[in-house]
Amino acid sequence: MKFLFCIILSVFAMGMTAGHPHTGSKKDKEPEMNKYINNLIRQMTVEEKIGQLNLISIDGSVMTGPVTESATGERIAKGEVGALLNIMSPPKIRELQDAAVKNSRLGIPLLFGMDVIHGYNTVFPISLGLSATWNPESIEKAARISAIEASAQGVCWTFSPMVDISYDARWGRVAEGNGEDPYLSSEITKAYIRGYQGDLTQNDQIMACVKHFALYGAPEAGKDYNTVDMSRMRMFNEYFPPFEAAVKAGVGSIMTAFNDVEGVPAAANEWLLKDILQQRWSFNGLIVSDWDAVREMTVHGIGDLQEVSARALNAGLDMDMASQGLSGTLKKSLAEGKVKISDIDNACRRVLEAKYKLGLFNNPYKYCDTTRVSTDIFTAAHREEARRIAAESFVLLKNDKELLPLGKKGTIAVIGPLADNKPNMLGTWSFGANLYSPVSILEGLQQQVGNHVTILHAKGSNLTYDKELEDRVSLNWGTLYKHFDRDNRTDEQLEAEALEIAGRADVIVAVMGEAAEMAGEGASRTNLDIPDAQKDLLKKLKATGKPVVLLLCAGRPMTLTWENENIDAILNIWFPGTEAGLAVADVLFGDKEPEGRLTMTFPRSVGQVPMRYNYRQTGRPPHADGRIVPYVTGYIDETHLPLYHFGYGLGYTSFKYGEVMLDKKEIDAKGTVTASIEITNTGNRSGSEVVQLYIRDIVGTVTRPLKELKGFKKIRLEAGERKVVSFTIDAEMLKFYNNRLEHIFEPGEFEVMIGANSNSVSSSIFRLL
Ligand code: BGC
Repeated sequence: MKFLFCIILSVFAMGMTAGHPHTGSKKDKEPEMNKYINNLIRQMTVEEKIGQLNLISIDGSVMTGPVTESATGERIAKGEVGALLNIMSPPKIRELQDAAVKNSRLGIPLLFGMDVIHGYNTVFPISLGLSATWNPESIEKAARISAIEASAQGVCWTFSPMVDISYDARWGRVAEGNGEDPYLSSEITKAYIRGYQGDLTQNDQIMACVKHFALYGAPEAGKDYNTVDMSRMRMFNEYFPPFEAAVKAGVGSIMTAFNDVEGVPAAANEWLLKDILQQRWSFNGLIVSDWDAVREMTVHGIGDLQEVSARALNAGLDMDMASQGLSGTLKKSLAEGKVKISDIDNACRRVLEAKYKLGLFNNPYKYCDTTRVSTDIFTAAHREEARRIAAESFVLLKNDKELLPLGKKGTIAVIGPLADNKPNMLGTWSFGANLYSPVSILEGLQQQVGNHVTILHAKGSNLTYDKELEDRVSLNWGTLYKHFDRDNRTDEQLEAEALEIAGRADVIVAVMGEAAEMAGEGASRTNLDIPDAQKDLLKKLKATGKPVVLLLCAGRPMTLTWENENIDAILNIWFPGTEAGLAVADVLFGDKEPEGRLTMTFPRSVGQVPMRYNYRQTGRPPHADGRIVPYVTGYIDETHLPLYHFGYGLGYTSFKYGEVMLDKKEIDAKGTVTASIEITNTGNRSGSEVVQLYIRDIVGTVTRPLKELKGFKKIRLEAGERKVVSFTIDAEMLKFYNNRLEHIFEPGEFEVMIGANSNSVSSSIFRLL
């Protein structure tokens, strides 16, 4: 009776709709949210609750007529939809929101999600490139601009950041991640979340979604979506840290992975979702599946749609992206006792809380301010940041005889299928951008050199010889992108033109590498070379005897052994985004220097992957100098060493590192050691350096990595200037998960290493008592 009275009272108070929550102080926000949502849930039918768990995809352009007359409009009005993704039209978003707010019984607003991964209209370098800046501030800025642009067009939820650790360059999705190191990736993850979410009270901040929980970056044989299997100790030490960092940073939502973990697909894995996320890390945000992943569990072979949907809900999944398994089956499962109403309520509550935290109950049209479309998108200021950050992400891999920077003089032949290609500059996942908005490399160089330089251009080759591969790869994103711009001329004609202009030039700039669609989702490769058509051309360019600069476009570490031996200078520019050509010109001509450092190890050959710097010691370690020795960890036909180490990258000046100095040789668990090193700019121009701190736990109760990144500082030094860089080390930084999953440090000796990359360090030892 008392219960009924409460319901009547609250329904009365809310006027039978979602109503407007009060905006209170931070302290009373949470109880107020709970009260508001409890009231709402009490009014909801089972169907409406299940509807909130339904994230659907429709192509906005398909609905040419009014939303209300469409099937989607009807479903929204019936309360069968909680959120939509990938609607690219702001007016359509407003109409859909109208349908929810005005035509559904309780007027609950919708969430609008989108893969805003490395920019929206203004596109930044692919995420792997962003990570190469080693600059969380720049990454926060890129995320902030992405949020401004996306929110101006109705998007309030981005499916980013992707923080899957991966050591496997075959896996195409490394393009979307932060590289191989858990510490660096955690720092970057926090930066993305600060940039996207801020405090969420503003209409230009959006909810982030960290993904893909978990282990998605470790598929067997590097095949996307493949089975994963590993020890829990490894999960905790290597794959979970960026996710835990995201939770601590207050990320609003988490997306589950496609793969299974210990035999249970992530979307129905109770250990991952409840034990780890909710209990161990106290995550109380929204858990969403990946695209169609609920239905795909039927294909994994763990039950029919009703069974897998019930399992997902029971495991802690809140929202089903695209498969409509939950919306189609949960009512039946409830009637049959396979799920509990309390679990449906909890999932529904988390969807509603996300909407509440975004302020959508207060103002469902918060993200529908159409005036912002003309002021906040692709602005000069955003593009300027994209140019700056792109330049910051470039990694100089080789620079023989200081060929770079180029002088603004003479004749430059700019050759290669990526030299004057705009769509490829955007890289994977750049839905929001105009394909032809980027400044091509050729255009950028032309704009920057004025009349002092003659620039010649030839395409030289197609991206590959393999038209079938190109067609197959294009199927991934089909009509969206036009990356393989095949030429009508024959290979011979293309090559002849390139060699003719090369003959007239003082220097050749070859712009080559992968097409954007050769990296990213569903784009695993077994061959990490520059495609043959381009490599053959590169060999002929080399044979001209002219100096050659290779500008490499890549979405992953590539095998560049031949290039490293034969090409004078190699600048890795990833997929640099909207301002590609201008950023390249800045660095090529030395107005800026290359500041990027690798965040993934570059192998010498594909047979070496998965490959990483922080591997654990074995009983038969390889020879440190890379020599091939029998009966140790390694190969008989290739060194165990990579081509370019984690953390590697050159600048236009040179630095000399002194010795690591420790202020103490022993500390107890409450103490700290300060490790310092003197760095001198020994070149004749100013330059920046990423000073990297690695630590090795020399003896442990379990085998420990040979080194682990524990800190980094980006410094700038004028020519001749020296600086002492210090890091403070405490016991917390020495913690790891043992095989009982205890997060501990162990007394003993630790080696502190500081240097310019993971392979070039000086070191000293201290003892933890
Ligand atoms: C990807 C996710 C993405 C989702 C929605 C999936 O195929 O794995 O990363 O967020 O699609 O577009």
